[in-house]
This record gives sequence, structure tokens and C-alpha cells, in this order.
Amino acid sequence: MTANNIPVIDVSPLGGEDVNARAHTTAALYDAASNVGFFYVADHGVPASLLAETYSLAREFFGSSRQQKSEVSVSAHHRGWLEIGEAKMYGNLQTDLKESFIWGLDIENDDADYRAGGRLLAPNLWPSFLPAMRSRLMEYFVATQACGEMLLRALADGLGIAPDYFVRHFDKPISRAALIHYPPQADERRQPGSGVHTDYGMLTLLCQDDVGGLQVRTREGTWTDVKPIEGTYVVNIGDLLARWSNGHFESTPHRVVSSATRDRYSLATFIDPNWDAMLEPATTANEEARFAPVRCADYIAARFDEAFAYREMQSVRESGEG
Ligand code: OGA
Ligand code: NI
Repeated sequence: MTANNIPVIDVSPLGGEDVNARAHTTAALYDAASNVGFFYVADHGVPASLLAETYSLAREFFGSSRQQKSEVSVSAHHRGWLEIGEAKMYGNLQTDLKESFIWGLDIENDDADYRAGGRLLAPNLWPSFLPAMRSRLMEYFVATQACGEMLLRALADGLGIAPDYFVRHFDKPISRAALIHYPPQADERRQPGSGVHTDYGMLTLLCQDDVGGLQVRTREGTWTDVKPIEGTYVVNIGDLLARWSNGHFESTPHRVVSSATRDRYSLATFIDPNWDAMLEPATTANEEARFAPVRCADYIAARFDEAFAYREMQSVRESGEG
């Protein structure tokens, strides 16, 4: 099944015993990652009740006053609330008309990787006015991380390399999740909801509401809608996985066109490995590596610097001093 030529893949066989069904699903994922860069996954294992609760927290958080949200204003370590105007996709002239709340692994102030600095691991910021957020959002993070790792195993398998080629670097991942809010705007030409970009990391798992507006650029250069399909995640390949797969998988440009009348909410989990994972392009048979090895955190940090205004303004960057 496809929607606007974007495959819809039931991934439940990946956790099952049926070898044929698993091979079929793996082949479908491999094909989608190689030829489209975007696919929907159904039967992904993230409970519907957890999704509903996360959505309702997103609405409550963004609906709070600016003063309240300022309590968790984005840290130098990319955790907390990014106000409208703080994110601009590389090469675009305008900032995005969106706000977001970003969190990751729930580590403590005395965490050795955090203290060392430069490793993109840092304590989360939790708002005191929404005490339910911490446990619920961590549950959400863990559930989507598990789904992402399941997909990465299948994608490695599809490439013909060891299924754990990617996920063996996932004991303390620098993955991030984001609640995102796109306010309505009557004239989208004035400011994009999200400007054209490719994602930086390995995989993005995106849950969207029923408003719509996400679009991908096809190989032919036209824009196509990634229509909301209830109960599915939209998954896309990021630049890091395109590189790590030695160019077999493709990261596809996409954007968000805001609704003229409705608020749109989405939940994104950006799946990435450990900070010090060395990305050696996965070569098969007689293939040459097309990219130099790169360390995960170095690559992601460089991309952050291009995209987020606050990183230019901060004098303390990834110094481990909080
Ligand atoms: C992103 C992204 C799309 C959306 O955060 O990288 O493309 O629908 N989000 O929020
Ligand atoms: Ni994106």
C-alpha cells in the first residue's frame, strides 16, 4: 500500500517468528529507504494511549504563557523550549514559524559525558507547572527509541550487513525528541512553518495530527503531501544514515506548510547513536567507501550550529558547565 507514492509498511512482522513475513517487511523497508527516503510505519508498537497523553501534554505546554515556558528556555545544550524565531533551516532566509520542546536521555548533572562537554548529552529541563511531563515524555522517548532501533536492524539486514551494524552503537544514544507546534498563518509565503531541509541524524520518527502540511520533494522536483494517516509514524532517512549506508539510503528534502486556520502539533524523535560512534560507511561486496569516517557528535553539532540561532548567541557552548 502507498499514499501519494509513499509506502505504508506494517512493521509488526519484525518482532515476530514468521521468517517469510519478516523478510518481506525488511525488503519493503530497504526499498523505501533506498528509493523514497520516506515511509509510513503501521503497527509500530508505540501504544496509542501514550501517544494521546503526549499530545495532550504538548497542547498544554504550548498553551501556557510565555513567562511560564521561559522557565525552560533552551539550554546551551539543546534541551528545553525553543521559542518561535529560534530555528532556521540551513540556507533559508526566514526563520520557521514554529516552537518546540526538546528532550533526550534523562541524565543527571553529575553525568560523566555531560561533565566532559561536547558530547550532546545533557540534563533535560522540565517545567514545574506541568509535573506529569517528565515521566510521560521519558516513556515516549524510550518507546520511540525502541521502534527506531528495530527499524535500524531491519535496514542493516536489508543492506546485507550485520543486523546490529548500527544498533551496537546505541548504549547511550544522543537521540532527541521534540514536541512541535505550528501556529496557524494566513499567508504561508511570509514565513514557512518549517523551511526546506533534510534531517541531520539517522532516522526521524514523526507523529503528526490530522491537520496536514508536511510535504516531501520527489526526485522529479515536485512537492507531494505526506498525508496524515492515523496510527502511523512517518519515518525518514537523515543525512547521517545516508552517509553511514554509503549512499544506499537517501535523505529527502521536506518542509511544513502551515494551515491558515488551525494549530498543528507534531512529535518528532531524531534517532542517533552514541556520541563517539565512528561512522564507517557500510560497504558491501567490492564497493568503495564514498565518505570519510566521521564521529557522530561532531557531525550533529556542526549541523546544529547552522540551524539554531541561539547557538550563535550563547557564549557557553557545550562546555559542560550547564
Ligand atoms: C523536523 C520535521 C516535520 C513536522 O522536525 O525535522 O521535518 O511535521 N518536522 O513537524
Ligand atoms: Ni525534518
